[in-house]
Amino acid sequence: MIKAQDLVLPSVAGLAPYQPGKPIEELQRELGIDEPVKLASNENPVGPSPLAIEAIKAALPELNRYPDGASYALVRKIAERHGVAPEQVFPASGSVEVINLLGFLFLRPGLNSVYSEHSFAIYPLATAAAGGEHKVVKTSDGFAHDLEAMAAAIDANTRIVFLGNPNNPTGTIYRRAEWKRFLERVPEHVVIVADEAYFEFVRDGQYPDSLQDHDDQRLIITLRTFSKIFGLAGIRVGYAVARPDIIQMLHNVRQPFNVTSLAQVAAVAGMDDTAHLARTLQVNAEGMDYLEAEFKRLGLSFVPSHANFILVEVGDGRAVYDGLLRKGVIVRPMNGYGYPHHVRISVGLPEENRRLIAALSEVTRA
Ligand SMILES: Cc1ncc(COP(=O)(O)O)c(C=O)c1O
Repeated sequence: MIKAQDLVLPSVAGLAPYQPGKPIEELQRELGIDEPVKLASNENPVGPSPLAIEAIKAALPELNRYPDGASYALVRKIAERHGVAPEQVFPASGSVEVINLLGFLFLRPGLNSVYSEHSFAIYPLATAAAGGEHKVVKTSDGFAHDLEAMAAAIDANTRIVFLGNPNNPTGTIYRRAEWKRFLERVPEHVVIVADEAYFEFVRDGQYPDSLQDHDDQRLIITLRTFSKIFGLAGIRVGYAVARPDIIQMLHNVRQPFNVTSLAQVAAVAGMDDTAHLARTLQVNAEGMDYLEAEFKRLGLSFVPSHANFILVEVGDGRAVYDGLLRKGVIVRPMNGYGYPHHVRISVGLPEENRRLIAALSEVTRA
């Protein structure tokens, strides 16, 4: 019998699917834990915007209709927010959809993508899915992107450079001067993907907003999402901003209704909820301060983070992850990201952070 694996690209046959954070329901089923705390997927612990919930409720009676395939209102709202033309905006079912489409558009056997070691797992997956080759660049200090080395890794067959800023799972950023030098070195046949899923959390004055550097020459794609600060991870909506010719290519290969009707109205409403955004930022900043102080107290080193999660060195990462699970706290093991001694912890609500610290101090002491 012929196997499906024999009919697809070898790079696809050998893939391991993306490993998401453990769902709360799964932990409840497996260990019978009453109220687990999930700090594993960099979600917004405050919840979705009440305005988004209202908009979703109001749209429910129309669920028999297909969504607006052009996401008209959402595209205009995003364009207005960033001061760009609607033709420069591509809404998607999460920013991950864009990353995958970019792989299919620009990569194939013989062509490569450049990305950093210890960066978001979807970059290698999207590359392999398209049969592309991988140029994985070492970090400068074990954690942060080395943009100079990444520029040096580009060759005539490179079509995409994936940059996470802030990077997941390290929470590190590159700053404006480094980014500008990088832009000068990248040749024009390379698509620069600035993945800024955590943009709104960053407080560093030297953090570059890649939207400021879009022009007619460069192939810059800025990725943003409604999954993080906007608290809409479950409904799947994100977007790309880029030159109209790139956006047109994305439209050519997307599925016809890639953003659901509920996602469209939720994102539009959520964007206006300044109270929800302010509260989320405050919860994150206070939570991050608390976690850092507690890690210091426990003698655990961590990577200072610019996002809503933090990478902490705990010894045997897998064992600590398992120990925390048994105490009802879900974090993210980091073996797959090349950090067997770390776990990644998303900032939660104050009570969730306290539960994490109580469990972590017991597990790391044991
Ligand atoms: C760096 C980075 N990019 C993109 C995403 C995906 O976001 P979305 O939910 O919009 O697909 C994540 C989510 O964890 C991320 O960490």
